[in-house]
Amino acid sequence: MTGPRDSKPLALGRRGFIQKLFAGIIGAVLGLIPAGVGVTFLLDPLRRKAAAGSAVRVASLDALPDDGVPRKFPVIADRTDAWNKFPQVPIGAVYLRRTPDQKVTALNSACPHAGCFVEFKPGDGRFLCPCHDSLFAVDGNIANASSPAGRPLDTLEVEVRNNKEIWVKFQNYEAGKSKKIPVT
Ligand code: FES
Repeated sequence: MTGPRDSKPLALGRRGFIQKLFAGIIGAVLGLIPAGVGVTFLLDPLRRKAAAGSAVRVASLDALPDDGVPRKFPVIADRTDAWNKFPQVPIGAVYLRRTPDQKVTALNSACPHAGCFVEFKPGDGRFLCPCHDSLFAVDGNIANASSPAGRPLDTLEVEVRNNKEIWVKFQNYEAGKSKKIPVT
C-alpha cells in the first residue's frame, strides 16, 4: 500500500526529472551559441569576398591632366584571402584618362592575353604589351591585327565624386578569353 509518505519520493523524482530536462534544454541552447559562432566564423571569408569589386578611391581629379594621355595609378585596397586580411595593399593598377569631352575612363592595366602589365607609349599613342607585343589604341581597343590578345583592354566603371575624387570599381577578368569573365 502506498500512503502519503510514499508519494513524496515519487514527487521528488518527478521534480528531479523536470529539473534535469530543463538543464538539458538550457545546455543544448548554450551549446548552440558556440556552434553558431563557429558557423559565422567559417562563413566570414565568404562574406568578406562579397565586398570584392567595390569602388576604390584611386586618385584626385587634379592628378589627372586633361591632355587625353592615359596615366597609370596603383589601386590600393584591403585584400582578403581565405582567412587573412591585408589592409591597404596594391591589388592592381589602372590607366585613367580624361577624354576630350572631360569624361574620365579607366582601363585595367593587365593585358587580357596572359596578364602582363601593358605600358602606354606616349610617342606612339598606344598601349604595348611587352610580353607578346599586343598593341591597344588609347581607348583600349586592339590596334594590331596579329594581336594575340582576344579582346580589348578591360574597361572599368569610374565615378567622379564631389567633382574631385576618382573612384574605380576595380575588377580583374580572366586572361586568355575573348569575353570579360570576372575573376572571383
Ligand atoms: S600577355 Fe600581353 S600579349 Fe601576351
